[in-house]
Amino acid sequence: MDASSRPRSLTRSDASLATSAVRREPGATIPPGIHCAEDYEAAAASYLDAATYAHVAGGAAHDVTVEANRRAFATWALWPRVLRDVTAGHTRVQLGAQVLAHPILLGPVAFQRAFHPEAELATARAAAVGDSVMVLSTLSSVSLEAVAQVPGATRWFQLYVQPQREVTADLVARAVAAGYRAVVVTLDAPVQAASHRALRAGYAAPPASAAANLASYPSPAATAPRGCGILGDAMRHAPTWDDVRSLVRDSPLPVWTKGVAHPDDARRLADLGVAGLIVSNHGGRGLDGAPATLTMLSHVRRALPKPFPVLLDGGIRRGSDVFTALALGADAVLVGRLQAYALAVAGALGVAHMVRLLREELEVCMALTGCPDPSAIDADALLARDDATSPFTPRPRP
Ligand SMILES: Cc1cc2nc3c(=O)[nH]c(=O)nc-3n(C[C@H](O)[C@H](O)[C@H](O)COP(=O)(O)O)c2cc1C
Repeated sequence: MDASSRPRSLTRSDASLATSAVRREPGATIPPGIHCAEDYEAAAASYLDAATYAHVAGGAAHDVTVEANRRAFATWALWPRVLRDVTAGHTRVQLGAQVLAHPILLGPVAFQRAFHPEAELATARAAAVGDSVMVLSTLSSVSLEAVAQVPGATRWFQLYVQPQREVTADLVARAVAAGYRAVVVTLDAPVQAASHRALRAGYAAPPASAAANLASYPSPAATAPRGCGILGDAMRHAPTWDDVRSLVRDSPLPVWTKGVAHPDDARRLADLGVAGLIVSNHGGRGLDGAPATLTMLSHVRRALPKPFPVLLDGGIRRGSDVFTALALGADAVLVGRLQAYALAVAGALGVAHMVRLLREELEVCMALTGCPDPSAIDADALLARDDATSPFTPRPRP
């Protein structure tokens, strides 16, 4: 579960968090200086208070995995090709029965009111305009039913398995009734190490009551801890193989799993009948020290060859990152932090603009590597980068 969801250090109400988080008012236009999707990362520092920015940018513990996710892209170069006709090309991808206009999805990001007053409603509008899929977090600031009222957006529902399994089933039923097209069960963060960066900056998580989708359910009854601390207590509600099996069996929607890293887990999930997998380490917010998602992608793809749908998230900041992920076997990618940053800077307009920039950056890569459509992007379009002059030198933190 995302760190922001845990009901500890509850010192502020959701409303006060939303107000205090905004430093510069999000604009109705794109501010000058945004030339590429990644520019939203630095720009957001002027729109979010330091603690909220640190919460978004940071990962679990020491940020080892956050940094690994980015560095992994730097190990690959894109290999240019000339004189190829790509003029009949496109960016469409097929994920199971769904055809998407391009392979860039808006991943689940909790409590978006901390970034913009319109929260997930703005993101849904951006998904509609940008022909993207919005994956709504269980821990959204706006209820899944209210988000479903935004016309035109393709929506998937991200599910955190709840301590009371009947609540889990009810969340899925609500997502079905509201027209969501898939359920994405997140498996990689039943507990999280706190972000040292966020704690040092004074970040306090919003109260449990800020999770609009969970507001109508009674709190789980307190029970005495079993066994030792984290293992016996927090982990007793963690999702199990049986949970995934019942979800796949009972859900009328395709069930995806998010947070898969190991090929053995991937194979077993595929055998259970999941619709697809998202190779993810929760943007470095789960197990600090986990490998980069790009590294794990190759292992998972080898275990589950195409056409089994495999997506990737973690560290996507540029169109060239999307290209690299596709070349190493992903069918599509999700963006997490870029979405929060763009939302903070310019609301729905910012998120739609960020998606458009990423898509254009991807198309430039496709044009110059001679790949007319995503299915033509494969490992032959990459070269291992062996020089030390990486263009991915981390920017100084704002
Ligand atoms: C502020 C924040 C909140 C997040 N909330 C959720 C969540 O509610 N559910 C979930 O499955 N993942 C959540 N994630 C993880 C993202 O879905 C995604 O895996 C990760 O951000 C991808 O890495 P990137 O931020 O480098 O793109 C969150 C990430 C961030 C930064």
